[in-house]
Amino acid sequence: MTLADLTTVGNWLRQPHVARWWTPESTAEQALETLRAHLEEGAGAATKLCLVSIDGQPAGWCQWYRWGDYPAEATAVDAQDGEVGADYAIGNADLLGCGFGTAMIAALISEVRRHHPGAGMVIAPEAANVPSRRILEKNGFRLESVRPLATERHDRPMAVYRLASADGDSASQR
Ligand SMILES: CC(C)(COP(=O)(O)OP(=O)(O)OC[C@H]1O[C@@H](n2cnc3c(N)ncnc32)[C@H](O)[C@@H]1OP(=O)(O)O)[C@@H](O)C(=O)NCCC(=O)NCCS
Repeated sequence: MTLADLTTVGNWLRQPHVARWWTPESTAEQALETLRAHLEEGAGAATKLCLVSIDGQPAGWCQWYRWGDYPAEATAVDAQDGEVGADYAIGNADLLGCGFGTAMIAALISEVRRHHPGAGMVIAPEAANVPSRRILEKNGFRLESVRPLATERHDRPMAVYRLASADGDSASQR
């Protein structure tokens, strides 16, 4: 993702199917400013942003980060320093329910492991976000717990999923 993509991402953030899960307690403008700040940090940014394309057309985006860079949030989800967290969306509502989200998670795992070979991942969608949970499950993530998280701005239950590291040691430091 580059700064030039933020107009497109802003349009996606305003789509109801994205806003429901990405900005339930905030606004698209606030989320965009956070994305802009990450992009302006450049290659050293703790949170990496990826635009997702399908057949060359922009379709959504992902962000990923090492939990060790966000200690309070890591503690809340019981993630280890070497594990990676992520957030994602298919922005174009016409593309939902066609398997693209599942393919996006597969591509995300590959991208993360290109940088951190074999890294485990911990991702915690809202428990009520069934499509998000399904695309994790279909990519090998296992449900660890369903509970509110101290670092969220709400007390709705979150479904904490873990993808074991490729060597089977979820606590490995990579
Ligand atoms: C989550 C998201 C990326 C999934 O993308 P997608 O392209 O629709 O996903 P897929 O088509 O690959 O798979 C969706 C799965 O959810 C299932 N599903 C969708 N809506 C459902 C519902 N209301 N109840 C039960 N299952 C549902 C589909 O049947 C499918 O599972 P299946 O293959 O076992 O049948 C997309 O919905 C999205 O961008 N949502 C908004 C942003 C978001 O929620 N991000 C995650 C925040 S943690």
